[in-house]
Amino acid sequence: MRATARAHTNIALIKYWGKRDESLFLPMNSSLSITLDKFFTTTTVEFCSCLTEDVFVLNNQLASEQELTKITRFLDRVREISGKGYRAIVNSTNNVPTAAGFASSASGFAALTAAATKALGLNLDGTTLSKIARQGSGSACRSIHGGFVEWRKGEKIDGSDSFAKPVMSDKSWNISILSVLLTSKPKGISSREGMKRTVETSPFYSGWLASVEQDFLSAKEAIRARDFEKLGTIMEANAMKMHATTLGANPPFSYWNSGTFDVMQEVHNLRTLGIQSYFTIDAGPNVKILCHPKEEQIVQEALLKIPTVKAIHICHPGPGIKYLSDSDRLKKY
Ligand code: DP6
Repeated sequence: MRATARAHTNIALIKYWGKRDESLFLPMNSSLSITLDKFFTTTTVEFCSCLTEDVFVLNNQLASEQELTKITRFLDRVREISGKGYRAIVNSTNNVPTAAGFASSASGFAALTAAATKALGLNLDGTTLSKIARQGSGSACRSIHGGFVEWRKGEKIDGSDSFAKPVMSDKSWNISILSVLLTSKPKGISSREGMKRTVETSPFYSGWLASVEQDFLSAKEAIRARDFEKLGTIMEANAMKMHATTLGANPPFSYWNSGTFDVMQEVHNLRTLGIQSYFTIDAGPNVKILCHPKEEQIVQEALLKIPTVKAIHICHPGPGIKYLSDSDRLKKY
């Protein structure tokens, strides 16, 4: 009753922003992402009849009560599916540089889904794993798969048609994703809270919904055609629209800081110089930039000149979940 799995983080090209069902994590809109090679979570789950409650060790330290509650709630769903009530020891390590500004909940819940279901003897396909991972954190359903991934919102009330699937593998189109770190401070408003407030109060949210499905279809077409300019243009505009909804919320809020503007301006500047680069921003101030691999160094150098930029991590498309043996787990990566 023990298994280890690894899942990589993903960055949304078309954002998931808003839920139509909070308990099942059903999204208001479809989204698209790239799974990244560099950042991942490795999780071992061991169920035992000897345990009376779950134990959660995160990065070699006993996790807080709050983190444990989230894990137990999620494991309860897995226990329900398997019909086995055992408690578990969950040991999770994030290979995300601590200050990368990348959310690890997507890779965390994807790895936990794969390891926990395997440990209970369930051999589930990617679609089923994705539906389960979604109920830990929406964006986690996309981290089950590698490369370019779509998550169609689905229509059904039980969520059975809301899961992620691959659009194109990580090997089929090599593009660079630069993660620009401005701050590693935890964000004031979580994505969960931010999207809820926006759905409930922002008059701009209807504008988001009116255009996001078209963005999703156009971005998917651009990926299939390997049309970098088209993909970058849609991605950047989609991020701007998502962030615009927060300004109309009550109370209003923004995830950006002054460094966010500095980076956005430099990306525009690089484009006027003929270097194709496009930005996107999640629920925080840090910026991710898409560029051609042959120009990643030039883009990195230009951005490192901005005083508010603390670090840049260069990523490329990466793989989906992998099951590991005990000896693999012990190897250094
Ligand atoms: C802005 O998946 O973190 O990064 O489902 O509430 O756990 P919950 O939210 P989460 O939200 C991600 C929001 C986003 C866009 C995206 O990744 O698509």
